[in-house]
Amino acid sequence: MASDDQPSKAAVVLALILSILLSSASDVSGASTLDNVAVQWNYLFNLLHCRSSGATQEPNIIMAQLHLAQWHALLALKHLTGASTTEDLVVAFASHTVLSNFYPYEQVTAIDPLLDTQLTALNATTAQQTFGQRLGEAVALSVMAKRRAGREFTFHAFKSALNANNPKPGVYRYLNNTPAGRAAATFVFYDIPIARPYVIPDVQRFIKTHLANIKPPNIPSPAWDKAYNSIVDAGRSGNPGRTAEMNTTAAIVGCPKVNSSVTCFAENVWSAIARASLPPSLSLYDTVATFAKLAVTMHDALIVLTTLQYGFWFWRPQMAIRAGDADHAPIPNWTPWFRTPPHPEYPSGTVTSYAAGAAVMESFFGAQNVSFTLSGGGQFGAACPVSGPVPEVEFQSFAEVVAFAQRARVWSGAHYHQSVVDALKVGAAVAKYVAEYWDETTPSGVLPDPAYLNVVAELPKKSGVWSPIRFAC
Ligand SMILES: *[C@@H]1O[C@H](CO)[C@@H](O)[C@H](O)[C@H]1NC(C)=O
Ligand SMILES: *[C@@H]1O[C@H](CO)[C@@H](O)[C@H](O)[C@H]1NC(C)=O
Ligand SMILES: *[C@@H]1O[C@H](CO)[C@@H](O)[C@H](O)[C@H]1NC(C)=O
Ligand SMILES: *[C@@H]1O[C@H](CO)[C@@H](O)[C@H](O)[C@H]1NC(C)=O
Repeated sequence: MASDDQPSKAAVVLALILSILLSSASDVSGASTLDNVAVQWNYLFNLLHCRSSGATQEPNIIMAQLHLAQWHALLALKHLTGASTTEDLVVAFASHTVLSNFYPYEQVTAIDPLLDTQLTALNATTAQQTFGQRLGEAVALSVMAKRRAGREFTFHAFKSALNANNPKPGVYRYLNNTPAGRAAATFVFYDIPIARPYVIPDVQRFIKTHLANIKPPNIPSPAWDKAYNSIVDAGRSGNPGRTAEMNTTAAIVGCPKVNSSVTCFAENVWSAIARASLPPSLSLYDTVATFAKLAVTMHDALIVLTTLQYGFWFWRPQMAIRAGDADHAPIPNWTPWFRTPPHPEYPSGTVTSYAAGAAVMESFFGAQNVSFTLSGGGQFGAACPVSGPVPEVEFQSFAEVVAFAQRARVWSGAHYHQSVVDALKVGAAVAKYVAEYWDETTPSGVLPDPAYLNVVAELPKKSGVWSPIRFAC
């Protein structure tokens, strides 16, 4: 991910930005879609995330900060009576600050131009812009300053654990267990278990209370036989029984894409689904609040998920089937249909995130099913066993998208069937908890810091009395 490919990347992004600005943020064919200042920044986030080296960063963290900054800016504005600025302006400046922080290479080519275009379209006075900028930036900086993931500290702990002893059956291991393979091995998401959730106060306690009944199979056991059998053919590359549906489904969910804005991580997919399904007439405030809920729920779900994955350290099909165990002879050349993700297996992260996203969208719409078309555009990337354009998929409900992802992850060769079933429970449990405690002030919390909302200044009743400017808590 060296910076020497920046010019071409920048050119690609610029071309894309121009095409978005001209055509508006649309990932659905046909129907007009939600398009406002907040959604335009969501779309740009997805574009930058899927196209740049930003894809190596955890999407849940960036998306949550983007939409919480938007939401906090609107809440702050509500508290400031007589403020001479607008909702659109504070959302624009807050978003601009967050994306500038995470994608510095795209500042000049993509981030500044979007702000510029919005400011022109909003036709605001200089005074409104100045105030909107101060408020939006201050709020965004506060949202970001509260969270610094300790990635650098986690990496060595993680590698030491992996190097400590020869793995037992069922335990995660290096894909290539030679010293050369170890040096070259890459891993992802190991820093997320120590990131702070927004709403869940204590992840390990949450797991003990809400998810105590899920765990990967013991080895050997009938449950393990079932898990093994669920993937040994269905997920194998070169299995002559593979159908086009298996290939396409696995590719849409799991393959990298070129020139696709929406499909690199679950957060990007659900951003697109939200833009495609929310009513075009939704107010700016309700748009921002809904995206904030979506982002925070997926954020906390990914922390719970990685805490489970890096707690059970369950082996991937490729590791298990090649190594063999008491009841299964090793198959040293077993290869999954698509490459094995570099983190422990149980439960499925994709399905956890999808289930969390689906629950938020379902709670917006209530019992009603919503149909929409998901179209990420672009082509399948070179590494993908399927080539050509990424097809559109029509869905009749959010639950259907989750079921699609469950099939995809097994057919990709990445997950046993039990892992995609249990993952749905994880995503749903987190979504339920986040919805229930959304309005509570927790040590971390989604509500803005009262520090910037409740500054009190009072003149003393008489001279000589000390009446400092302070925070009202
Ligand atoms: C911008 O606002 C000014 C006055 O505030 C007005 O004269 C002008 O026509 C507006 N321009 C657009 C494009 O709306
Ligand atoms: C599915 O993908 C495999 C490559 O892994 C390929 O050999 C096979 O022909 C594909 N099947 C269909 C029906 O496209
Ligand atoms: C991606 O988009 C760029 C710029 O529009 C284009 O030059 C390139 O050919 C596209 N690549 C693919 C694989 O579609
Ligand atoms: C909504 O869709 C799901 C399948 O995704 C189906 O089971 C359910 O019956 C549908 N509900 C309604 C009210 O149509």
